[in-house]
Amino acid sequence: MITGDEFIYLDNNATTPLDPAVLEEILPFLTKYYGNPSSGYAFAAQARKAVDLARERLAALLGCEPSEIVFTSGGTESNNAVIHSALQFEPRGKHVVTTAVEHSAVLRPCQDFEKRGCFVTFLGVDQHGNVDLADLEAAIRPETALVSMMWANNETGVLYPVEKIAEICRQKGVLFHTDAVQAVGKIPIHLRDTAINFLSLSGHKFHGPKGAGALYVNRRTRLSPLIAGGGQEIGRRGGTENVAAIVGLGKAAELAVRYLEEGKCSIRSMRDRFEKAILESVSGASVNGAGALRIPTTSSLSFEGIESPAALLLLDRHRICCSAGSACRTGSQEASHVLRAMNPNGDGARRSLRFSFSRFNTEAEMDRAIEVVPKVIDKLRQTAALSP
Ligand SMILES: Cc1ncc(COP(=O)(O)O)c(C=O)c1O
Repeated sequence: MITGDEFIYLDNNATTPLDPAVLEEILPFLTKYYGNPSSGYAFAAQARKAVDLARERLAALLGCEPSEIVFTSGGTESNNAVIHSALQFEPRGKHVVTTAVEHSAVLRPCQDFEKRGCFVTFLGVDQHGNVDLADLEAAIRPETALVSMMWANNETGVLYPVEKIAEICRQKGVLFHTDAVQAVGKIPIHLRDTAINFLSLSGHKFHGPKGAGALYVNRRTRLSPLIAGGGQEIGRRGGTENVAAIVGLGKAAELAVRYLEEGKCSIRSMRDRFEKAILESVSGASVNGAGALRIPTTSSLSFEGIESPAALLLLDRHRICCSAGSACRTGSQEASHVLRAMNPNGDGARRSLRFSFSRFNTEAEMDRAIEVVPKVIDKLRQTAALSP
């Protein structure tokens, strides 16, 4: 079996390694403290207290109240829950405004509701990936139930001004949701000062376990549950809590707060060094989203004269893990919808590679990647030149 240690793992937007401190905190809740948090006896109180602590830790990371956190199975469920709640139950209407560059966990439920008679506006982006706020404002109609816009794009790392957009929505009386799966734990977030109604996050994107996520629901905002059941999460998400996963998510949040506060994270400088070196050593290379603000963990690069699937294969042989776009599309022949939206007439979507970094990457790994990537691109170009 191949382990992560033998690879240089530069695909942290797909998922991140579990922090060893998170694993340590999870284990007793898979063995010793197996009580159901809803049970009344003292033994179960340990599980209940652990869930409460996780809620507090997550609230500290987001700058909100613990009661505003609803635990879910991850980003996909959180996104679906918001769209479902807004379109099924908001009296205001049956229209959603979102963007063409959202993750499929927003696009798909929107498309499904479209088939059932709802209306969706998918806003386009410019060549840098930016959305025009005037277009957004113009798209909001009297029957708009929800505006949903990601905080950071999973493929390019481009950041969206969600606090500003939430304010526009508040003034127009429309609910605002942000898919912050790629932003949480990577940039400081203070929800208390914002007009954001809903925010989705996912534990495995910041060194927590997979299948553990949350939805922030502002205390003045109503959420109708996507999963109705035993009344857990104050009736906002049914089902016995996945205590171990929630504990891990809470610990990952606590560690993220620490890393963000200490500002020790050298991820940005590592990313910038990698990007600069590749741009200097490879002709015909460019950064997707270079003209926009980006999260410090992502480098989406386009290379003239290559096809990304072939590049991924060669990099894999050199034991470098990265991707062409989102992990969900790996194996599909379809080029990235995000890069196509940024440049509809170009072929950048077929020539791009996404490298994404975490606090577990090292400068030595950067040195190796800086050495290998140009060689791989060169080899692909030579092969393309030789083929008829
Ligand atoms: C922006 C974004 N939203 C949602 C998701 C889905 O999150 P999860 O894997 O927790 O369902 C992802 C995962 O790649 C993502 O990048």
